[in-house]
Amino acid sequence: MLKKFRVVVITLLLGSSGMQAQTTVPVYLDDNKPIKERVEDALAKMTVEEKIAMIHAQSKFSSPGVPRLGIPENWMTDGPHGIRPEVLWDEWSQAAWTNDSCIAFPALTALAATWNKDMAKLYGKSIGEEARYRNKNVLLGPGVNIYRSPLNGRNFEYMGEDPFLTSKMVVPYIQGVQSNGVAACVKHFALNNQETNRHSVNVVVSDRALYEIYLPAFKAAVQEAGTWTIMGAYNKYKGEQACHNQYLINDILKGEWGFEGAVVADWGGVHDTKQAIYNGMDMEFGTWTDGLAWGKSNAYDNYYLAAPYLKMIKNGEVGTKELDDKVRRVLRLAFLTTMDKNRPWGSFGTEEHALAGRKIAEEGIVLLQNKNDILPINLAKTKKIAVIGENAIKMMTVGGGSSSLKVKYEISPLDGLKKRIGSQAEVVFARGYVGDASGDYNGVVSGQNLQDKRSAQELMAEALQVAKDADIVIFVGGLNKSDFQDSEGNDRKELGLPYSQDKLITELVKVNKNLVVVNVSGNAVAMPWVNQVPGIVQGWFLGTEAGTALASVLVGDVNPSGKLTFTFPVKLQDSPAHSVGQFPGGNEVEYTEGLFVGYRWTDKKKIKPLFPFGHGLSYTTFDYGKVSADKKQMASDDKITFSVKVKNTGKRDGQEIVQLYINDVKSTLERPEKELKGFEKVALKAGEEKTVNFTIDKSALSYFDDKKHDWVAEPGYFEAIIGASSSDIRSKVKFELK
Ligand code: BGC
Repeated sequence: MLKKFRVVVITLLLGSSGMQAQTTVPVYLDDNKPIKERVEDALAKMTVEEKIAMIHAQSKFSSPGVPRLGIPENWMTDGPHGIRPEVLWDEWSQAAWTNDSCIAFPALTALAATWNKDMAKLYGKSIGEEARYRNKNVLLGPGVNIYRSPLNGRNFEYMGEDPFLTSKMVVPYIQGVQSNGVAACVKHFALNNQETNRHSVNVVVSDRALYEIYLPAFKAAVQEAGTWTIMGAYNKYKGEQACHNQYLINDILKGEWGFEGAVVADWGGVHDTKQAIYNGMDMEFGTWTDGLAWGKSNAYDNYYLAAPYLKMIKNGEVGTKELDDKVRRVLRLAFLTTMDKNRPWGSFGTEEHALAGRKIAEEGIVLLQNKNDILPINLAKTKKIAVIGENAIKMMTVGGGSSSLKVKYEISPLDGLKKRIGSQAEVVFARGYVGDASGDYNGVVSGQNLQDKRSAQELMAEALQVAKDADIVIFVGGLNKSDFQDSEGNDRKELGLPYSQDKLITELVKVNKNLVVVNVSGNAVAMPWVNQVPGIVQGWFLGTEAGTALASVLVGDVNPSGKLTFTFPVKLQDSPAHSVGQFPGGNEVEYTEGLFVGYRWTDKKKIKPLFPFGHGLSYTTFDYGKVSADKKQMASDDKITFSVKVKNTGKRDGQEIVQLYINDVKSTLERPEKELKGFEKVALKAGEEKTVNFTIDKSALSYFDDKKHDWVAEPGYFEAIIGASSSDIRSKVKFELK
């Protein structure tokens, strides 16, 4: 057998001028042949056992190739924000290698808040290089599930509430990753918008909300970015697990969108052999077997798509058509990744990657409030800076679930500030409260000892004392990566800040009105003190260079230019899923708010949010001119361009994110008051003016007609609305679709 398929077969051919040596390789190994032909050739050479082996795991994060044919194994890695440490063969625990400490990039919420597609490309390219160097051919990310409730424990891994913004940001991320010969695995497909009951909850959602809100980012990932893999979600839809779901996978993903890649199960997301066979599941991972301790020689043989499938084939219960389809997809993955001789080698833990992460972090930080220009910190006039809060010192890259990392280093906000400020001012610190003192995840330890036996009163008293005579107080608090906060597996229990931080903030501002609150989180939090505190910064989880990036923004080396990608409600009841009483539900959750997620809801209900979608300030100011359209009417096969002048009217260079929303003035079906359909991040020097253009076609005017099961752009009047946020509307222009 081995000889028959030797990698290189030398044949001697007789030429006209005599004997001539020529090298022939089998089609599947011939780089010059189209991938489709190579796939068919390899498939034809495989036994049914080899095929079955290829479609399920052999360890926690790997699946077999075809050793006999020289087709390598697949090695997957979390996650969206950095390359997970190596784990033991059959355990979640880290394997304690000493060469797998990565660069942590900012969480995807921070990336999305840059509203900068170049940053998404840089992110994807950099993290892809890290994955490639570590010999992974599938990166389990990015996550694009829509932000439906501020309590979802995994919001920090996603890109916010808007399908258009998420779609535009995910495409360059994927292209960047895949330029390394590493597949992106876009997750979690689909409707995985909460952690409570995540393995069992059945999501009930209208077709309109499904197509208009929850699916567009996945569709863009498939059709615009050409993602090579997609991860099925844990939850159910129409009563079937999303990992083997006729509607989501067969009908929509592979049917309507023509996805040619492989559907990877979320770890333990497969529950049924027949459904997995027929409903599009291609690669099974993480099924809850107890590994080798199960008493079997290899527990992976017990996976739904392992021995049980083979048995069904052997006894004639099922055919092999579906098996061949799955294997084709997995082979395609191999040819695009491990079998691509020209893919680059990647690089890992480099300064270049740390700098990329820092740049993204600096662009993603959002200045939410800046009364009396409290920021940037004026170092010329500042002698003493008080830094208060646990998140100023706590490592945030350890914990939070599958995105937890083992990092080369992580600069805390306190260290970042100290380093930047140096001897220019005194930096004093008090913790103020004890939140989560742990720092251990799957065997990775932060090495920090955050135990503190002092009482809450003592801690607060110390903080107030330290804050009292400082020139400025920077409170760094928010959430963290422990359970029931920004963490996988559970949802948050409340919108408010934990550990009595509200009380501490309220007391701090009483002793020193020059207070800036930096909220480190991947979620909206309530801010009952918003009117008392002059400065508020959304700090996200920023990764390796967190403290450096934060310090750059706080002292004004970098002019903040991030904007929110989800609404901050004043209270939980202002958030649609909670207002309709459908979060987290029981065994079933019905998205009765329909299309009205985020700003679509606050617009409809005329609710004033704490901070709206698209909001973010700068240390400079921008004036907007009046938007104009290049025509009054557009035909349905035509395009229309809107132009608006934007001027930097302040004294600093800065970047502004100009947003285009569309309002369908009159429509047969109910539509949101406005929807984001364009955005541009424009860099303007002090005093500079630029014209920003947006060109759209009818797709920006369309809604999903559930009766026709198609997108419809209804003739009639529309408005193009230019905003600096979803609430800060600068001008509008009307036009007609003929
Ligand atoms: C998570 C995925 C992750 C996988 C592997 C699952 O629990 O939902 O996002 O990629 O584990 O760690």
